[in-house]
Amino acid sequence: MGATGLFLITFLIVHAGINSMIFFNDGGETFNHWGHFMGSNFIIRTMEIGLMLFLLLHIVEGLLLWRQNKIARPVKYAVTRTDGKTKWYSKSMGLLGTLILIFLIMHFYHFWIPSRFGGMANIQPLAEITLGQEYNNQPVHNLYKEMQNVFSGNLIVIIFYVLGCISLCWHLMHGFQSAFQTFGVNHKRYTPIIKAVGVLYSVGISLLFASMPVAFYFGWVN
Ligand code: HEM
Repeated sequence: MGATGLFLITFLIVHAGINSMIFFNDGGETFNHWGHFMGSNFIIRTMEIGLMLFLLLHIVEGLLLWRQNKIARPVKYAVTRTDGKTKWYSKSMGLLGTLILIFLIMHFYHFWIPSRFGGMANIQPLAEITLGQEYNNQPVHNLYKEMQNVFSGNLIVIIFYVLGCISLCWHLMHGFQSAFQTFGVNHKRYTPIIKAVGVLYSVGISLLFASMPVAFYFGWVN
């Protein structure tokens, strides 16, 4: 879980970085440029297969770990530790992971599936969602327009995205530090630094992601 987790942590930095280009407020030109580069570059497309496999592996490992814990202790602890040392999010990785999974299914339906396989989730017809260019005989997807479509009309979608980002924040808070511990990094001086970086990373990435649907909904980017 540590290795797949660290890979996904790195992916989120790249994903949030490229998505943040919507804030240039240039009608999506810069964002679409880099989005198209990521979607058409051979090396990145090959890495995408790895990303999907790692994501799947991370979920399966999480489910197996949860099952193992259940089998190891079929009767729950009579007393829950209340010394403040066990954080709420450490005990709730299963619940938070499930919420993120629901978020991801919705997220793929909105963006990844239409971009890779055609306009399934498009609210507008495909002709209006393409950039008028072709790549490998496929129309190039206007991901910026797709975001605008998904995020400008429906408040429920915005709420689900923000809830997904809050769950992600809690999940990462525990996961970041836990990944380092898995690799044996447990040091009097460095562990508090890793923990602090983990909190900064988790809050920063989640706030950045959450700000995207909110910004489209309120028309701060257009
Ligand atoms: C909330 C703001 C977010 C927005 C606006 C957003 C937007 C997008 C878009 C437009 C794509 C399609 C890229 C393409 O097909 O080329 C995408 C793909 C993806 N997103 Fe997000 N995303 C957000 C948050 C997240 C979060 C929080 C996660 C993970 C927990 C995530 C995981 C993924 C994955 C795994 C893919 C597929 C990557 C690929 O194209 O290979 N996204 N996202």
